Amino acid sequence: MQLWSSMPEQIESAAAVLRAGGLVAFPTETVYGLGANAWSESAVRKVFAAKGRPADNPLIVHVPDIRSLEGVVANPSGLTPTVRRAMAAFWPGPLTILFPAHTHLAPSVHPNLPMVGVRIPDHPIAQALLRAAKCPVAAPSANRSGRPSPTTAADVLEDLSHAIQGIVDGGPCDIGVESTVVAIGPTEATIYRPGGVTLEALEEAIQAPVRLDPHLAQPDAKPLAPGMKYQHYAPNAEVNVWWGDPQRVETAIRAFLADPARTATPIAVIAPGPLRPNAIKLTLRESEVSRQEPAALDWWPDDDEPYVESLSRNLYRLLRAFDRAGARQIAVVGVPPTGLGLAVMNRLDKAAAGRVTRL
Ligand code: TXA
Ligand code: MG
Repeated sequence: MQLWSSMPEQIESAAAVLRAGGLVAFPTETVYGLGANAWSESAVRKVFAAKGRPADNPLIVHVPDIRSLEGVVANPSGLTPTVRRAMAAFWPGPLTILFPAHTHLAPSVHPNLPMVGVRIPDHPIAQALLRAAKCPVAAPSANRSGRPSPTTAADVLEDLSHAIQGIVDGGPCDIGVESTVVAIGPTEATIYRPGGVTLEALEEAIQAPVRLDPHLAQPDAKPLAPGMKYQHYAPNAEVNVWWGDPQRVETAIRAFLADPARTATPIAVIAPGPLRPNAIKLTLRESEVSRQEPAALDWWPDDDEPYVESLSRNLYRLLRAFDRAGARQIAVVGVPPTGLGLAVMNRLDKAAAGRVTRL
């Protein structure tokens, strides 16, 4: 297992491993990806084995620029104006667009599906690696299937150190939730997975209506993205989420923490600044919690950025940290499901297995 830095010759070594069919984890602006040469069926199969990923769940292909859609997308010169507007507005960035797939791609990248998801990541290391690799890179999030996505190199190593050839360490990811996955028709678009690009921004950029996969509003419906049917993002602890009127949310969390049935349980709380009630006895800091004694864990977001951005950037990292610290319960103040909040609440809903209360 190699640990590479962002130095050009180190990136070149990582790229050579990718070209030769090995697995390399790398940072993007959303989460860390587990990369493999998307033209090599044997390389792509290693990704499924390393993650324990169901074979029916397609991978996103990463390229450094629009020219590199050649050999990935069936007819890159025949794209509609609507798709072109989305590419111009959000690439490089956290938007995965579905295209008719090129026959050169390894079949397992898009199992039994005519379309392939493609994105150009907005991260200097991802960009440098993709340019050096000279092949499209299929990369799901670099976690074991079912675990929260990794937002640091340490998170990747926790899950996959034995299964990969190496990792390029780029520090923590900026956005923290995955890309938005979207199918864009000539006159409308459908979001399969909410993510770093908001529905509102997409609608404005493509000048066409954007709807959500009905599954996102009605969990019993079959999701359009195969991966959305799996219980992702789940920590070991039981997660409960409240959102809505701040006073009522605060009252609900206080009541939850004060419940005698829970006083002997290690509880972690994720809440914004205005909801830092002194009365909640949050005693131990993350670093101090190794004794696994009954305790509460806390985390305070930065006051100088919107809570939803803090929550997005830190959510997966906190879910992992709280698990390691032995939390049995995680109480979270949620956000309205608009803008970036739509993606954050989608992930929280899965982490909480539906234990989300609107107040
Ligand atoms: O931000 C991201 O998208 C990260 C970074 C590494 O780029 N990648 C990522 O990949 O989150 P993954 O494999 O964890 O999630 C891909 C999602 C899955 O829900 C999958 O089912 C859906 O996108 N997807 C990919 N290709 C698809 C296709 N051809 N049709 C329908 N859904 C697709
Ligand atoms: Mg994933």
